[in-house]
Amino acid sequence: MLAEIKSIAYHLTPRLIEIRRHLHTHPELSGQEYQTAAYVAGALNSLGLKVTEEVGKTGVIGEFRGEAAGTKCLGLRTDMDALPIEERTKLSFASHQPGVMHACGHDLHTTLGLGTAMVLSQLPGSLLGKVKFLFQPAEEIAQGARWMLNDGALAGIDHLLGVHVFPSIMGGSIGIRYGALTAAADDLEIIIQGEAGHGARPHEAIDAIWVAAQVVNALQQAISRTQNCLRPVVLTIGKIEGGRAHNIIADQVTMQGTVRSLHPETRAMLPEWINGIVNGVCATYGAKAVVDYKHGVPAVQNDLQLTQIVETAAREAWGNDKVEILPEPSLGAEDFAVYLDQVPGSMFRLGVGYPDRHNYPLHHPLFEINEEAIVTGVVTMAYSAYKYFHPQ
Ligand code: NI
Repeated sequence: MLAEIKSIAYHLTPRLIEIRRHLHTHPELSGQEYQTAAYVAGALNSLGLKVTEEVGKTGVIGEFRGEAAGTKCLGLRTDMDALPIEERTKLSFASHQPGVMHACGHDLHTTLGLGTAMVLSQLPGSLLGKVKFLFQPAEEIAQGARWMLNDGALAGIDHLLGVHVFPSIMGGSIGIRYGALTAAADDLEIIIQGEAGHGARPHEAIDAIWVAAQVVNALQQAISRTQNCLRPVVLTIGKIEGGRAHNIIADQVTMQGTVRSLHPETRAMLPEWINGIVNGVCATYGAKAVVDYKHGVPAVQNDLQLTQIVETAAREAWGNDKVEILPEPSLGAEDFAVYLDQVPGSMFRLGVGYPDRHNYPLHHPLFEINEEAIVTGVVTMAYSAYKYFHPQ
């Protein structure tokens, strides 16, 4: 079966490169993937899949049922949205949309979903089950998975497979991760209320800027002294705003940040822990604080069984040299995790780096993809699906 899948995928590669370049030229922002969704639905329809549109706003689902009977259903999720970035590559197929760029490889992800559907639809008798292709919107704003979930996208799915490109792995290679792949990402807003006054007479005021500085330092120090260093927590205050003029003591400061963690127990105690530190520091200096902790997406925890299937499929398809077991998770976030609260699943990393030049990171205006990854991704996904239905 591997040889057949490979031969079909190699044959399709020129067409898949065209698709990927078309999507790259026409990127759409999160929640506005109208053209992309229509394009995806058209392609799935032409393959004869059962297509449902407007799942989770602009999401699309294509259902493939093998001719052979089988009860299991594998979900295959890819995302479709682009980022508010002005592309600076000089590629012939660079974005035609000012200020919008596929800088996270979701153009490739969409292509992989379509490519896998194309391969499997040429092998109708070979799959003992059903594959549901989820084309998800709005991953970059961590909303799309929730939208699709609320629209019933996971109905009937037993396991969910996902993929994300990774520029530090070379094109043609695959990264496999057991356990946590990405971190839980929560949002933090802190408002510190002091008392305005004359810049020359601080003792008559409560300086919210100075208190905010103490709060930022206290949080960073407390992480190193009170959190288990083997259970990572990253807290970044990325935005701070306050003050009216150079000679007026600020009465209010607003800070916004992101909080990343891997372990559910750690994550569960963070809101109260942060609240305690912020309020403790503020109380010391007579200021007041309001802490708003909003839970975002949880960590992606890869399912053991499905991860083993993908690893075996990748090793058989590409050889051990092309399969890397990733020793560490990333503290980035991925809303694929939202589905994994409901069904077990696994996401692998697809290498898109070039061996002979600098590879810009994801979300960079010069980010590029080594298109060798297309056939690697499609074969790995299609063959993983086959092995999922035909365990030896
Ligand atoms: Ni992404």
